[in-house]
Amino acid sequence: MPSIDVRAVTKTFILHNQGGVQLPVLRDVSFQVEAGECVVLDGPSGTGKSTLLKMLYGNYRADSGEIWVRTGEGVEDLVAVHPHRLLQIRRDTIGFVSQFLRVIPRISTWDLVCEPLRRQGVDESRVAARAEALLTRLNLPQSLWSLAPATFSGGEQQRVNIARSLMVEYPILLLDEPTASLDAVNREAVALLIEEARQRGAAVVGIFHDEQLRTRLADRLYALESAR
Ligand SMILES: Nc1ncnc2c1ncn2[C@@H]1O[C@H](COP(=O)(O)OP(=O)(O)O)[C@@H](O)[C@H]1O
Ligand SMILES: [Mg+2]
Repeated sequence: MPSIDVRAVTKTFILHNQGGVQLPVLRDVSFQVEAGECVVLDGPSGTGKSTLLKMLYGNYRADSGEIWVRTGEGVEDLVAVHPHRLLQIRRDTIGFVSQFLRVIPRISTWDLVCEPLRRQGVDESRVAARAEALLTRLNLPQSLWSLAPATFSGGEQQRVNIARSLMVEYPILLLDEPTASLDAVNREAVALLIEEARQRGAAVVGIFHDEQLRTRLADRLYALESAR
């Protein structure tokens, strides 16, 4: 049984504020991801890669089809689970690195990064050790840890985002162009962290604009085609 099993997923956006125009994005998407495997979503801009990733996180709902994920309770279909259960599944099972950090004013980098592991009730000394290790590996200077990331550069914010999303060793890891705003040194740091996640058995689904990174990390490519 794979960690992720996407079956015949379809998605059309309806633009209600533009005369109800229908925008078909995903048509009959099916693929599976095993534990310890990295599948990279491939295809030109606008083919629905980010949309699909958001659906794997339950942010968007499929119009039809099923998205089965392996959780602590067995296998559950994200398209059908109760919203309350979806939040639990995210907390415990699925990590998501978005393209940009959603900055929350006045919360320090340290607290933002620690929060996902604290939420699981892990004791503070373990939380601190992990946060320190990740922030250090991502080359975020200690002088920034107590500051809110609102004024950070794009690359610094993205590294805070990545550290936060990697705090918990989630069984499933979703990555939407995590390295797009990073320099070569930090791209390498992130690539190593992703490889480690895969080696500990995470099922990884990623979008990487960087060709080299794609080839290096992908066990398999899943090509998305235009639904229009
Ligand atoms: N929330 C949304 N509402 C309406 N259309 C959307 C929404 N999100 C994405 N789209 C449209 O869906 C298509 C696929 O977008 P996206 O998934 O971001 O593509 P990709 O990540 O492959 O570049 C685009 O045409 C985009 O405009
Ligand atoms: Mg995208």
